[in-house]
Amino acid sequence: MSDKRSRAAIAATGLRKSFGDHVVLDGLDLDVPRGTVFSLLGANGAGKTTTVKILSTLLSPDAGEVQVAGHDLVREPDAVRAAIGVTGQFSAVDNLLTGQENLLLMADLHHLGRGERRQRTALLLDRFDLTDAARKPVSTYSGGMRRRLDLAMTLVGRPQVIFLDEPTTGLDPRSRRGMWRIVRELVADGVTIFLTTQYLEEADELADRIAVLDRGRLVAEGTADQLKRRIPGGHIRLRFADAPGLDTAMRALGQATRDGDALTLRVPSDGSLRALKGLIDHLDQRAIEVDELSVHTPDLDDVFLALTGPSDQKVTPR
Ligand SMILES: Nc1ncnc2c1ncn2[C@@H]1O[C@H](COP(=O)(O)OP(=O)(O)O)[C@@H](O)[C@H]1O
Ligand SMILES: [Mg+2]
Repeated sequence: MSDKRSRAAIAATGLRKSFGDHVVLDGLDLDVPRGTVFSLLGANGAGKTTTVKILSTLLSPDAGEVQVAGHDLVREPDAVRAAIGVTGQFSAVDNLLTGQENLLLMADLHHLGRGERRQRTALLLDRFDLTDAARKPVSTYSGGMRRRLDLAMTLVGRPQVIFLDEPTTGLDPRSRRGMWRIVRELVADGVTIFLTTQYLEEADELADRIAVLDRGRLVAEGTADQLKRRIPGGHIRLRFADAPGLDTAMRALGQATRDGDALTLRVPSDGSLRALKGLIDHLDQRAIEVDELSVHTPDLDDVFLALTGPSDQKVTPR
């Protein structure tokens, strides 16, 4: 095992999975460093859940080398299971039990001692804002409460790596923000999060690295900023006090175009600091006064639409 592999929370190469002749994963490589949030972004049916099921030992891959928490997925599935937690589309929550009973049951599955099972349950109920509802059956919980309980249950076993499969799909904005806060706290505690989502905003908010899954392959990978910079359409917008200023700038900058209002110019740019500095230096050297400057980077929606699917089949998230 190389150093890089042992440091990674998840390392996969050439991951493949088909159902019949339907190729769902067509050779994925993944490298998720410990203590980070990795987001797998894809439309409905892209293969996110299939990936999570494979990485969490619930489904075997057709091909590929995978290590999770330093253990080989095929040779040491029990060690992988002991190190991970999974929440998402297949909730382990029992509707007939109360929140507290669900947690206690989980504590028993993990063989916690009498004192610790009470203590850990109380702590998790408090942390997930479920203390008031602890003695009510889960069937009375809202969607957000149920997701929080589900996540609390996976934390009973103190997993190093947590798979969150679309943890906020269907939640209202407030519950979604609550879930984001919890994810940030988990990462601050050193946990690694593998998060799937259809929401670009969510990946942008939480993920250290994002990979875009489309038709079985990762079509892009990087930080949110790196992905945004890959997409044409980024520009710097300059506003001038008067027409002569604008004309001088137009001549000096070459590839600028007028942008709407007669006194603004649009200069194509990748939005990087270096490009911005270059532009400002260029204007300074020619003593061209700018009234206002703004940088426009494409957002992740632009990235997603540019990278995935043919235009007539593009799925707009949300
Ligand atoms: N057990 C299965 N048998 C056959 N096809 C499946 C099975 N599980 C998933 N699929 C198909 O694989 C594709 C990817 O599914 P999934 O991983 O659930 O996507 P996502 O989670 O990104 O929405 C879909 O076309 C789905 O219908
Ligand atoms: Mg899914």
